[in-house]
Amino acid sequence: MVYTRAIIPDDFELPVAAFDIPQCYNGDLSAVVIPEGLVKDRVRRLAKDIHAQIGDQPLALLCVLKGSYKFFTALVDEMTNARSSCPEPMTVDFIRVKSYEDQSSTGQIHIMGLSNLDELKGKNVLVVDDISDTGRTLAKLLSTLDEIGVKQTWTALLLSKRVKRDVDVREDFVAFEIPDKFIVGYGLDYNQKFRDLGHICVMSPAGIQKYKLS
Ligand code: HPA
Ligand code: MG
Repeated sequence: MVYTRAIIPDDFELPVAAFDIPQCYNGDLSAVVIPEGLVKDRVRRLAKDIHAQIGDQPLALLCVLKGSYKFFTALVDEMTNARSSCPEPMTVDFIRVKSYEDQSSTGQIHIMGLSNLDELKGKNVLVVDDISDTGRTLAKLLSTLDEIGVKQTWTALLLSKRVKRDVDVREDFVAFEIPDKFIVGYGLDYNQKFRDLGHICVMSPAGIQKYKLS
């Protein structure tokens, strides 16, 4: 089975008016970049690719909150199907990482939650994150897992942004490679808003202004 990312071209944008968007976000978005249905299709295949590579060995899935909550549940469901003949159940764990304010990284990465990260010691861990752009959040998390003494790690990302990385970090399984645009929806936020939006969208200048913190 050949594994490949789905690459979204720079100019790929669909009209917001062609989609069902919650009323509360009227005027806040300028385009749909990845419709929710496409995410679901892609996650199904990604789960098969992950299973083909990792096989039936025991696996702990680590959800990096909050951004990956939708991707994580979709991926776990598809992985359960992909591993249906597998003798070993998967386990799920949750961790919270925060670095973004407005549209940029604060440069400070806070790892919170999962009070007992040590539980992952000696395990095969699939880190499930929403997006990789600077690479710094993921790199910090992987080095933390390394210090704990996990057996092996892989990374599954919903999105990988076409930007220069501050640090090189392993991106083992990527659903979509996207242009360098600030996007929201399907778990991804702008100052905690838009996570509940199903489609992955670009914001309008009005939306950016409306929910700006600083
Ligand atoms: N949108 C939302 N959150 C993010 C992004 C983005 O484009 N990049 C990193 N965190
Ligand atoms: Mg965020």
